[in-house]
Amino acid sequence: MGLETSDDAGVYMLRDDLAIIQTVDFFTPVVDDPYSFGQIAAANALSDVYAMGGKPLTAMNIICFPVKSMAISVLQETLRGGLDKIKEAGALLVGGHSVEDEEFKYGLSVTGVIHPDKVLTNKGARPGDLLVITKPIGTGIINTAIKGNLADDKLIREVTKIMSTLNSGPVEEFNNFRISACTDVTGFGLLGHACEMIEGQDTALKIYPAKVPIIPEALNFARMGIVPGGTFRNREFRKEYLIGADKIDNVLMDILFDPQTSGGLMIAVKRDDAEGLVSRLIEKGLSASCIIGEFIEAPAGKIILK
Ligand code: CO
Ligand code: CO
Ligand code: CO
Repeated sequence: MGLETSDDAGVYMLRDDLAIIQTVDFFTPVVDDPYSFGQIAAANALSDVYAMGGKPLTAMNIICFPVKSMAISVLQETLRGGLDKIKEAGALLVGGHSVEDEEFKYGLSVTGVIHPDKVLTNKGARPGDLLVITKPIGTGIINTAIKGNLADDKLIREVTKIMSTLNSGPVEEFNNFRISACTDVTGFGLLGHACEMIEGQDTALKIYPAKVPIIPEALNFARMGIVPGGTFRNREFRKEYLIGADKIDNVLMDILFDPQTSGGLMIAVKRDDAEGLVSRLIEKGLSASCIIGEFIEAPAGKIILK
């Protein structure tokens, strides 16, 4: 599996019972604290392996660092944060590469494993399946507020906790429930990634915007017009796919397309298994987990907002 399906990671079958999953992700700091940034960047990179249903095995650091203008302790703390997340994921740091750059960037390339029969793509949801999300959205808006010095320490701590939480918890439950499809919510926003789940498929997806978990402060900032530039591009790109968007509050639409950093998983699960999965996720500390929509037959390839 490669580029053609715009999935979360590449998958290569080694044997009938073993495939590797490969992914890479890195970006500029989203919070000021370097240790937290390291944790967030690593959790984000590891997430694409989890989004395929896999288990991360090895990771390599990718570092672009302005060595002449930034204290080396910033890099050390970032790498310490990243390493702690790699360890938490049960993976091994096996190397990396660094270059000098004007702007600091950090992330990982990650290799994971999975049984080929267990690979979960972002497609595969069937009419009747319900859609579950595992983290609240709005982190792109909060990150924009942080850059503008508008977020207080308490909010920064809360959003750091959300972004640095590994998506391993849901995957640990995948053997206990009938899962049809999975993806993580990142740069295209909740609706952008939801579109990938039905694009070219013979199913439609009904999403209930009122049920989507949102970080409350993100709503306030969005009302003040504090939204990242990517939101507009995300909305433009997918507007043809949406039915009912004109009846939804414009601020809520911005939030539904807010580019997420290290967002949660969106999981398509058989209807009868959905409540059980959500209960398990909440027990695991993913307290925002809930059902936000359902897959239906028609109109195929569209998202209905209701
Ligand atoms: Co992804
Ligand atoms: Co990614
Ligand atoms: Co090298």
